[in-house]
Amino acid sequence: MLQISGLRFAYGAGAPVLDVPSFAVERGERVFLFGPSGSGKTTLLGILAGILKADAGEVRVLDRDLAAMSGAERDRFRGAHVGYIFQLFNLIPYLSVMENITLPCRLTAERRARLNGVGMPYAAAKVAQQLGIGNLLHESVANLSVGQQQRVAAARSLIGTPELVIADEPTSSLDYDHREQFIELLFESCKAAGSTLIFVSHDRSLMPLFDRCVSLPEINRVGR
Ligand SMILES: Nc1ncnc2c1ncn2[C@@H]1O[C@H](COP(=O)(O)OP(=O)(O)OP(=O)(O)O)[C@@H](O)[C@H]1O
Ligand SMILES: [Mg+2]
Repeated sequence: MLQISGLRFAYGAGAPVLDVPSFAVERGERVFLFGPSGSGKTTLLGILAGILKADAGEVRVLDRDLAAMSGAERDRFRGAHVGYIFQLFNLIPYLSVMENITLPCRLTAERRARLNGVGMPYAAAKVAQQLGIGNLLHESVANLSVGQQQRVAAARSLIGTPELVIADEPTSSLDYDHREQFIELLFESCKAAGSTLIFVSHDRSLMPLFDRCVSLPEINRVGR
């Protein structure tokens, strides 16, 4: 599913953040990625999703090398194949909950096709219902609580069951019940679609739920 070799990355002319000789994830695997604050977890996720571009090395996702693509190609690839729950949500503030959730499907036809003929509003309503925000579909996201916004971000990542789901601290703003509900839905959705999951969290109590736990400092030579 995913294969990194010789990855190097720095922000602009800054100090190196990532030097990862190799890292691979199998299709359908659920990986828990952890490490101290500032160790480069979000940066690595950004590279895997094609938001950031590697300075050197190969970043193969679904047999395409993201490190060799242009920005526009990476954006398209992400829209079609990746669901990303950002640490800071990245919702579009002037759009409604419904519009935020359906965004990936409106960006690429490939993601739309993954709805299997179901309409976008129906698909959005279903996933929103499962996350307990079904009654908020026509609200502006600017009016939501932080925990509600996090669930909109989760719904947006799961719509159209992308092959790769990347979640950066996706439960940090959820209460206990919503956290359980969200993780259950995330796992169910990934299992049903055969999706691969890469999940970053500081909450180590979640570790036993995953197929594999990876310490970023162990795969990253920066900081050694
Ligand atoms: N946009 C940016 N521009 C410049 N440097 C950045 C930027 N984002 C992150 N960094 C630097 O890159 C390093 C890794 O940051 P990153 O956000 O990947 O850490 P993290 O492991 O996700 O931390 P946290 O657990 O706090 O979310 C840090 O030293 C940080 O200062
Ligand atoms: Mg982070």
